[in-house]
Amino acid sequence: MAQVRDQWTGRAGFIMAAVGSAIGLGNIWRYPYVAYENGGGAFLIPYFFALLTAGIPILLLEYALGHGHKGSSPLAYRRLSKKWEWLGWWQALIAFLISTYYMVILAWALSYTWFSFGTQWGGDTEKFFFDQYLGVTDSFWNFGGLQMNVVIPLLLVWIFVYFVMRQQAHKGIERLSRIIMPILIVMMIIITIRGVTLDGATVGLNALLTPDFGALIHPEVWVAAYGQVFFSLSVGFATMITYASYLKKDEDLSNSGLIAALSNSGFEFMAALGVFGALGFLAAQSGVDVQGVVASGVGLAFVVFPQIINELPWLNSMFGVLFFGSLVFAGLTSVVSIVEPAISAIRDKLGTTRTAAVNWICGSSFVISFLYATKGGINYLDLIDHFLNSYGLLVGAVLMTIAVAWTSRKVRDLQSHINRVSDVHIGSWWVICISVVTPLVLFIMTGMNIWEELQAPYGDMPYSGILIMGYGSLLLALIAAVIFHHMEWKANMEPVQFNEKEGA
Ligand code: PHE
Repeated sequence: MAQVRDQWTGRAGFIMAAVGSAIGLGNIWRYPYVAYENGGGAFLIPYFFALLTAGIPILLLEYALGHGHKGSSPLAYRRLSKKWEWLGWWQALIAFLISTYYMVILAWALSYTWFSFGTQWGGDTEKFFFDQYLGVTDSFWNFGGLQMNVVIPLLLVWIFVYFVMRQQAHKGIERLSRIIMPILIVMMIIITIRGVTLDGATVGLNALLTPDFGALIHPEVWVAAYGQVFFSLSVGFATMITYASYLKKDEDLSNSGLIAALSNSGFEFMAALGVFGALGFLAAQSGVDVQGVVASGVGLAFVVFPQIINELPWLNSMFGVLFFGSLVFAGLTSVVSIVEPAISAIRDKLGTTRTAAVNWICGSSFVISFLYATKGGINYLDLIDHFLNSYGLLVGAVLMTIAVAWTSRKVRDLQSHINRVSDVHIGSWWVICISVVTPLVLFIMTGMNIWEELQAPYGDMPYSGILIMGYGSLLLALIAAVIFHHMEWKANMEPVQFNEKEGA
């Protein structure tokens, strides 16, 4: 059965969806503390280096793969070279696994948007988050049953996402991004203006921006920069391959890539100013320095921010709703891009309807997401996130560059594909980045991560947990990728090569 590929309404729709995917939780809470912990103002140097040598080149590579080969990731790789189809599955499956917990963080943010009315978290925000809201258990293997506080918002976000996903991409994902992104940007501008005009804000901004050039000799700082750029730009997860495959035939690629990358970074810098202005304010209120109030990850958004909101001179509830609402909005347009690669892959391979693929993929992600809605959930989330991002993503990205540049030697073809359809032409720097610089750096990064893994168990978690959940999810993705690779193609296997060979 020949099926019609989903298609964006046009270039603007594609850019909106791509920017919606890129701007997510990674920009609002991840970037600020990663920058702070890794050299402050000096972090901009490795950040831009990573953006220019890996982030943008890989983004363009994914665009070219998806657009040139007109396929979801397994199909795009298969058209590149038969033996690499499994890599497309691997990337789509890693993204799928990320969706299982990304949804849960969205659920927390939704609850906190609600709690913002009348600052329901009270004075002790740490106790509230861990003990009352999550009800965290005392030991790793104590699941403690489902936590209803999390289950209910999780159901709500799933219902919403499910109905968005059922629609074709231009009606579901594109429309969602077109509606939400402008609102999100306005919300973030308001938050940033408020953040930088609070008493004590300059202390926070100094902490964020004062360059510590000494940090640049530490390889971890560079690893952090690459990690941030990948996660934030949504590259390495098959998302951009899938999105680019929904573009019309002659649509511009390189210009769109630059717009997406610059909007993403711009948003990230702006959010960091607002967040650190607010942290400076909290530090001043509590009579400590910024180091005393800053927290990483989950703690920053769900413990420190409620505290800041408590201390605001006026409109506390409103700023709470703005902040947590912006997390929900930013996360929604990202999570749809995290489930889409697997949906698109199933459709291409098995020729199913969109609805059937959505039922399978959203259905199974839904079931798995309840693991993190148990009382022990936050530990599993933390652990699995670490393994998927440190290995699932990196290994996929290294292999992607090797597959394209070394085994199938298609890097020049992809370059000419981009240049044929785009205004801005890309030169040999791109070829060098894709074939040499990026694989080398990512390879070293993976090696460093493994080395660190062997030093001490991640986050002091029990080895049994690390083995079963951490390595277990990677193994699961690998086995599933190999099985899918060997299944028979039921649809869409007419060999599309690059557009120039299509005739027309
Ligand atoms: N870029 C998103 C963020 O910053 C996360 C994401 C990762 C989206 C991978 C798609 C694929 O939160």
